[in-house]
Amino acid sequence: MAITTCVFDAYGTLFDVSAAARQAAEEPGRAALAENWQALSAHWRAKQLQYTWLRAVTGQHIDFWTVTQDGLDWAMEAVGLDDLELRERLLALYWELAPYREVPRVLAELKAAGRKTAILSNGSPDMLEGAVTSAAIGEYLDAVLSVQDVGVFKPDARVYDMVGARFGCAASEVLFVSSNGWDAACAASYGFQTAWVNRAGEPMDRLPGKPAHVLKDLTTIPALAEEL
Ligand code: LAC
Repeated sequence: MAITTCVFDAYGTLFDVSAAARQAAEEPGRAALAENWQALSAHWRAKQLQYTWLRAVTGQHIDFWTVTQDGLDWAMEAVGLDDLELRERLLALYWELAPYREVPRVLAELKAAGRKTAILSNGSPDMLEGAVTSAAIGEYLDAVLSVQDVGVFKPDARVYDMVGARFGCAASEVLFVSSNGWDAACAASYGFQTAWVNRAGEPMDRLPGKPAHVLKDLTTIPALAEEL
């Protein structure tokens, strides 16, 4: 079935989650961070995601902003950074993460082709609004869907159900795009046509669902949506 609706994961897919630590590390007086911002960033992201999965499994949902702060606190302790000012700075930068370069053009092309576009994210509505506004991509999005409305994190099926509920479309009409291998795998199991944006060249996750399309970045998404 032709693709009517293109749905994007937010963090890591549209917005560069490593930008906060990288940018802070370039600021004057941040020698300690400059030495290990990559380790900090990797721990931060890993813990943030683990906490979403664990909270989903144990039924202990909380907003993604809290999970993001908890992940950062763990990561800062792991790399030996005890600096409240830096913590606040990193969190402020997370609010306005840079989009990947191709994002505005890709969304504009999808809209020009008459497709519905949306974000479907663990992010809380205010975090997503901050990121969308700072990236100036709001005009290209028909919806910004947050898990907060269903009270559970990805990959619970209730999250993917939000797309059909919002657009009244079948799962097979949806091209779901994520840079998170686990999200792409679970979206494929759910029944979306799925593209995994594997920017880092990682191995495919060993999960039951397999994304049918593996891309290096988002550039070819409009052409893929046309082809399917
Ligand atoms: C999101 C996370 C998984 O935006 O990146 O939902």
